[in-house]
Amino acid sequence: MVQLSDIHFSEAYYMPEIADSMLENINRSAPDIVIITGDLTENGLASEYNGAKNFIDRIECKNKVIVPGNHDSRNAGYLFFEDIFKARSTFGHFGEVTVVGLDSSQPDLEEGHIGRENYGWIEKAFSGSGFKVFALHHHLIPIPRTGRGNNVLVDAGDVLELLDRSGVNLVLCGHWHIPWVWRLNDMLVVSAGTVCSSKIRGKTSQCYNLIELDAPELESKRWHLKVYRVFSNGEKERVVDSII
Ligand SMILES: [Fe+2]
Ligand SMILES: [Fe+2]
Repeated sequence: MVQLSDIHFSEAYYMPEIADSMLENINRSAPDIVIITGDLTENGLASEYNGAKNFIDRIECKNKVIVPGNHDSRNAGYLFFEDIFKARSTFGHFGEVTVVGLDSSQPDLEEGHIGRENYGWIEKAFSGSGFKVFALHHHLIPIPRTGRGNNVLVDAGDVLELLDRSGVNLVLCGHWHIPWVWRLNDMLVVSAGTVCSSKIRGKTSQCYNLIELDAPELESKRWHLKVYRVFSNGEKERVVDSII
């Protein structure tokens, strides 16, 4: 799987050369599933959505799960998101892997929120067996170097309990452009950096996550999971190598 995030397509922040090399790297790895965790655009404008769509169309993968971020819901941009990508929240079963993607944004607000009205169908979508991935834009737990920014879901506690109870293996987020990994109980929470925008923070650089999953041995419900950060020059940094 590939997780990429925070394209921020706009005249000001999109870096076409970095985008080209990232696309080349992603397509070379021929992922089975690509998950895009929001902030496709900077201000939710039609022209930015067109640019983001062109970028996403160049990713060679038939299974794409895409959710909006807070920037995409600015200026009623969620309407363009729905036109292009259909549902803002979605789920799919891809072989042994279930991915639930949730729109955690609210129009013209920075903070994230899932909402009690969504808990029921999330639980249902995760009711089977297999490897379970939850994808959203905002953070579920705080990560370092986010200052005093309001970057965690307002209902994070209830969502964490729901995901833990549902046996979710992997949570993927974006938003603050700081790549990071936490392990909480049996769940990995992985944040991505920005894939191809100049909006990098501190000493980070553009990157995306490449996720390799080995099926569990018979009788075992545990999976061998490796996560690499991939940079625009093609360098890979392994940040997870765990049985989960
Ligand atoms: Fe962002
Ligand atoms: Fe964001």
